[in-house]
Amino acid sequence: MYLYGASGHAKVILEILESNNIPLEALFDDNDSIKALFDYPVLPAEEVKGPLIISIGSNRIRQKIAASLNLEFETAIHPSAIISDRAKIGEGTVIMQGTIIQTCAEIGKHCIINTGASVDHECVIEDFVHLSPHTTLCGNVKVGEGSWIGAGTVIIPRVEIGKWCVIGAGSVVTKNIPDGVLAAGNRCKIIKSIS
Ligand SMILES: CC(C)(COP(=O)(O)OP(=O)(O)OC[C@H]1O[C@@H](n2cnc3c(N)ncnc32)[C@H](O)[C@@H]1OP(=O)(O)O)[C@@H](O)C(=O)NCCC(=O)NCCS
Repeated sequence: MYLYGASGHAKVILEILESNNIPLEALFDDNDSIKALFDYPVLPAEEVKGPLIISIGSNRIRQKIAASLNLEFETAIHPSAIISDRAKIGEGTVIMQGTIIQTCAEIGKHCIINTGASVDHECVIEDFVHLSPHTTLCGNVKVGEGSWIGAGTVIIPRVEIGKWCVIGAGSVVTKNIPDGVLAAGNRCKIIKSIS
């Protein structure tokens, strides 16, 4: 198994691999000055090979890298996560410590489901989404491609978040949010458009 990106996010993912006794061969990074992360070698990005997880926190950058590579992508799921057998998890997605994913939830490709997140029944999480630590998604919530949900945010049942949105930390989202906006607060309100 390999990781692409040797940042703090990669440190979390490599510890998930260690928890599962999955050997990590190396990481790749386009910053040639990084030679190692803990005891693992960091190699130039041009040498990238799979099976791979893109270990970069930016949703846009994960999307760009995934589109540029024709490689096998893996998932990383911490053993403390509780995941329904009826949930679906896409390739390249990482699921951190203490997460709960309930029945019939669908998680797309290259998502980050961060520490302690709770994704309830029948939620649909599209590709390249990041659910930050301790986000709470009630049943039937939908989060569109590339959106970043800030830490501790609560989204009530059946609410739909558009694509490539940013929802500020600690928000309480009670109404649908359109594509491409930054929204925040309790109650969550649109602050500005983001391209
Ligand atoms: C939403 C966020 C990205 C906005 O950052 P930004 O683009 O730099 O925007 P600003 O800080 O300039 O804030 C713009 C406005 O939104 C408000 N705002 C920002 N974040 C907010 C939040 N979480 N809740 C309520 N209001 C918020 C600011 O007060 C500001 O309002 P003002 O113009 O009336 O002063 C950032 O505040 C945030 O919440 N990030 C999430 C961090 C997180 O969860 N990280 C997890 C990593 S694993």
